[in-house]
Amino acid sequence: MEHRVFMLAAVALVLAAVCTAQAEVLESCKGDYVCPNFTVVEKHKEFEERRYVETQWISTRMSSSSTDDMREAYYRLKDFCEKDPEEPASTLLVSRKTWPALISISEDDGTETSVSMSWFVPPGTVLPATSNPKVTVETRSASTVYVKTFGGTPNHELAQDKVKILRKALDEAGKSFDHHTYAGAGYDNPLNIFITHHNEIWIYEA
Ligand SMILES: *[C@@H]1O[C@H](CO)[C@@H](O)[C@H](O)[C@H]1NC(C)=O
Repeated sequence: MEHRVFMLAAVALVLAAVCTAQAEVLESCKGDYVCPNFTVVEKHKEFEERRYVETQWISTRMSSSSTDDMREAYYRLKDFCEKDPEEPASTLLVSRKTWPALISISEDDGTETSVSMSWFVPPGTVLPATSNPKVTVETRSASTVYVKTFGGTPNHELAQDKVKILRKALDEAGKSFDHHTYAGAGYDNPLNIFITHHNEIWIYEA
């Protein structure tokens, strides 16, 4: 009898652990930093499945993912946020206290068809009235993202490598995902060589 009660309690505990997705805060998002909220749905060896809440972003198109185009896009977003220096929430964006920054790349047969940079905009941020047609404000509905985390100074080759590993792992796990688009998510200055970087590849559920 006691044994059965114990078993039931154990089963209840396991069920509770399975049913309660864990809200998680990344190390790079603690303290002054603000990142979108998500829960971890599943952890796999090569990736984790996250459920993100609805999020807002400012985005700008890039002609390629080269370092020059990236720098240009960075300043375009920064200038946009600086339009209203009195607004503390956009100061948060300008001082890069919001992460991640995403470089989203769509490709067809290995050729880049569209590239853009996006910055996460925390809820309640009052954005300057759009004055730059090259910067768009986007709301993304709640979504499931497959994430592979990696360290090291991020670059295109390293990212491509991780995308391959992630796609293979998703195939093996039987996940249905977007085969044409992925995003590199950064949580720190990619050009700073003195820090330990936290990088991620994001692939959206299809
Ligand atoms: C994340 O969730 C917490 C608790 O609900 C909330 O206080 C916080 O504002 C949320 N953060 C963001 C960036 O949405």
